[in-house]
Amino acid sequence: MTTTADYTEKIPNNVDLREDRRLQRALESWQPNFLNWWQTMGPMLPTQDVYLRTAVNVGREGWAHFGHVPMKDYRWGIFLAERDPDRRVGFGQHRGEPVWDKVPGEYRADLQRLIVIQGDTEPASVEQQRNLGATAPSLYDLRNLFQVNVEEGRHLWAMVYLLHAYFGREGREEAAELLHRSSGSVESPRILGAFNEQTLDWLSFYMFTYFTDRDGKYQLGTLKESAFDPLSRTCEFMLKEEAHHMFVGTTGVDRVVERTTQVMVENDTDDVAGYGVIPLPVVQKYLNFHYSVSLDLFGGETSTNVANYYTAGLKGRWSEDRRHDNHKLTDDSSMVDALVDGQIGQTEVPALLGLNTDLRRQYINDCRGGVNRWNKILADAGLPQRLKLPHIAFNRRVGAFAGIEASPEGEKLSAEEWSQRKGQWLPTEVDKTHVRSLMWPVHERGKIAAWIAPPRNGINGKPFDYDYVHLL
Ligand SMILES: [Fe+2]
Ligand SMILES: [Fe+2]
Repeated sequence: MTTTADYTEKIPNNVDLREDRRLQRALESWQPNFLNWWQTMGPMLPTQDVYLRTAVNVGREGWAHFGHVPMKDYRWGIFLAERDPDRRVGFGQHRGEPVWDKVPGEYRADLQRLIVIQGDTEPASVEQQRNLGATAPSLYDLRNLFQVNVEEGRHLWAMVYLLHAYFGREGREEAAELLHRSSGSVESPRILGAFNEQTLDWLSFYMFTYFTDRDGKYQLGTLKESAFDPLSRTCEFMLKEEAHHMFVGTTGVDRVVERTTQVMVENDTDDVAGYGVIPLPVVQKYLNFHYSVSLDLFGGETSTNVANYYTAGLKGRWSEDRRHDNHKLTDDSSMVDALVDGQIGQTEVPALLGLNTDLRRQYINDCRGGVNRWNKILADAGLPQRLKLPHIAFNRRVGAFAGIEASPEGEKLSAEEWSQRKGQWLPTEVDKTHVRSLMWPVHERGKIAAWIAPPRNGINGKPFDYDYVHLL
């Protein structure tokens, strides 16, 4: 197997596509549909070219090439991390057996489903973000938006490759459906709720890339453990790209908080809406929203499907190899969040059933990292305010707390109290209108919008005032 992609190929790849003419033809016939989708549902802003990172290699020697690329010439490729010929199944009933290069018949439907659900999120986020270019706060941010979008497009390619290569006619039909569903559509929406929300402003974009792309990281992390080796290898490489998306989110919120903090200190007031920045309570409300809808993406606290996926070896735990147990979990139990006699609490279940809760907790711990760094910005400026993650029961629409309402502190509320008070905790129309009123494009080299601080560093060693994007 080669690791360096051949960009003279119609579909750059490191999977020896040329050796499998049927598969190559099938993917080449999907390609125009993808390009059509990108043109109609992808970024709206016309550009001459964008300074992008393109994957050329999956090896350790460096896998990315940077350069200005006209969007019409951008090439989406298929890249799998290198194969480890000695890799063995790390968990479940097949633990210790060699991993699978083909799909075992008995797991076909489940694997296909897992791939389709993951695949569906990738184009969805591009659709959600398609209007953002028109209000980018700087060329640097505009470039990052395009980078995230082309990589989500590539992640769609990654899942479509698996569907075409391993799931026959049904796989090809599912691949077509991935371009047919669309975010927010009434007739054929995207599969998961958070991917049907609109991303209308840049604060939402940073929160999305911080919280929702991070859900992606955890889902990919469990699929990376899969006994189905091509899925594992594809997810391993996707995770490398995903890291940049979360970087965009982390540093994006950093810069919003930094700018708001500056204005608060300079003017010695918390009430900064009139100064053209985003007040901290509004940042907190956006955080509350994106965090809670992202928690929903992990599904119910208990799941027999996920228990079966684990036992079968299809989907593992986050950092499976760092867990100190027998990696089968048949005799273990765990505590999961639950309503106990109508109150927010926990209950004990067989560990296999509680795997969604396990993954959600890993995610929650990771999310604290961002909040800590944003709070450090406030603390360093001598301000007493702090951001925080809301309680796990807050604003949930999936799982044990879907049927109740709770405050960010985790206090159970009646439906009436909730509707009276939710505007204190979730963005109201007034908040959204204020945020949107700040979203004026700054498409001039080296300039930045007033509501956000410039980044500390540019991309790939370039300065902030580099010509990252040439507009038409
Ligand atoms: Fe992705
Ligand atoms: Fe992503």
